[in-house]
Amino acid sequence: MKMITCIAPINMAVIKYWGKRDEELILPINDSISASLSTDVMCAKTTIVTSALLKENKFWLNGQEQSFDSPRLTNCLRAIKKRADEKLPHLHWNISICSENNFPTAAGLASSAAGYACLVYALAQLYNIEGEISNIARQGSGSACRSIYGGWVRWHKGNSPVGEDSLAKQIVPADHWPEMRLLVLVVNDTKKKYSSAKGMAITTLTSSLIKYRANEIVPRRIEAMEQAILNKNFQSFAELTMKDSNSMHACCLDSFPPIAYMNEVSHSIIQLVHLYNDYKKELTVAYTVDAGPNTCIYLLESEVEDFLSIVNFVFPNNVDDNEYYRGLKLPSIRPLDESIVKDLNLSANKEGLLKYIIYTKVGEGPRVLDDS
Ligand code: DP6
Repeated sequence: MKMITCIAPINMAVIKYWGKRDEELILPINDSISASLSTDVMCAKTTIVTSALLKENKFWLNGQEQSFDSPRLTNCLRAIKKRADEKLPHLHWNISICSENNFPTAAGLASSAAGYACLVYALAQLYNIEGEISNIARQGSGSACRSIYGGWVRWHKGNSPVGEDSLAKQIVPADHWPEMRLLVLVVNDTKKKYSSAKGMAITTLTSSLIKYRANEIVPRRIEAMEQAILNKNFQSFAELTMKDSNSMHACCLDSFPPIAYMNEVSHSIIQLVHLYNDYKKELTVAYTVDAGPNTCIYLLESEVEDFLSIVNFVFPNNVDDNEYYRGLKLPSIRPLDESIVKDLNLSANKEGLLKYIIYTKVGEGPRVLDDS
């Protein structure tokens, strides 16, 4: 018998992946960039057991048994096994995969990215595979390829029709920009949304804006973003991040039927970020939104206290602090100064529009947790 347990990070894109040129191989129409987030706060954890005695393959996700025959899982397994040494005895045994996320799926964060990165990383350990595996994780879920590395990561879309050059590369490791933080404002929302896969398929098929985005806008933005990260230029980073999020959601609305992932609360947070940046006379916080209403805020550690006191004023909440704030230890948050409330003409929304807030930072890539 062999057993391995690994963890892998989720990632938050600052230049978004939206649209595929090949649905089955999961090949994107543009490059994207993300940060992998600290596994101390959120991660996927996968245990794989293989034994000559196992009668069949099994797969559990968050305690629920899943079909082992999903095309995405089958593609990852096939690609991994192709790279392994045929003579490895346990290559031919059945496996049992047990995967879970340590954060609620309600957070609406790309759990499949962390999940598939973790699965492929664990399989690679199990079958002694060395070298590039991000192009295998990509076949589970596109954004998963970026979670194979820690720090700031770029997914190169590649040009090959079979996708061997569509892979992720680390731009810089996690400690390159140590002051960078992330607040995930989890919005209370129960409306069912299109999955990212479905949403981007509709956009790719029906939006004319998406072609302009993929061919003209993103190629320029990607290079500028890489420079902003390398130079730790927050002004440029923030502008590119917000514009790219807006551009992805504009393409969603340009789809037919239109796709709206953001709700009123996401829009109010975005307005608040612009108001706050105007007040500070520079870009000090940046929002980015994925395929749901939750709004992620990239900001430097020195801004967290000020920004959160404004968020708390505008989005009041009655939830116990220990339940409401999750993740890293927060600075103590002061009540907002009356003068700021007046200057910015702020008013409080009704209570409970935000469910909770996750505070995290850029972190490392996947690792083996326990090899027994
Ligand atoms: C909005 O990676 O979830 O989060 O490849 O179909 O599994 P599939 O899609 P997925 O899409 C993520 C889209 C996004 C933007 C991003 O992470 O770049």
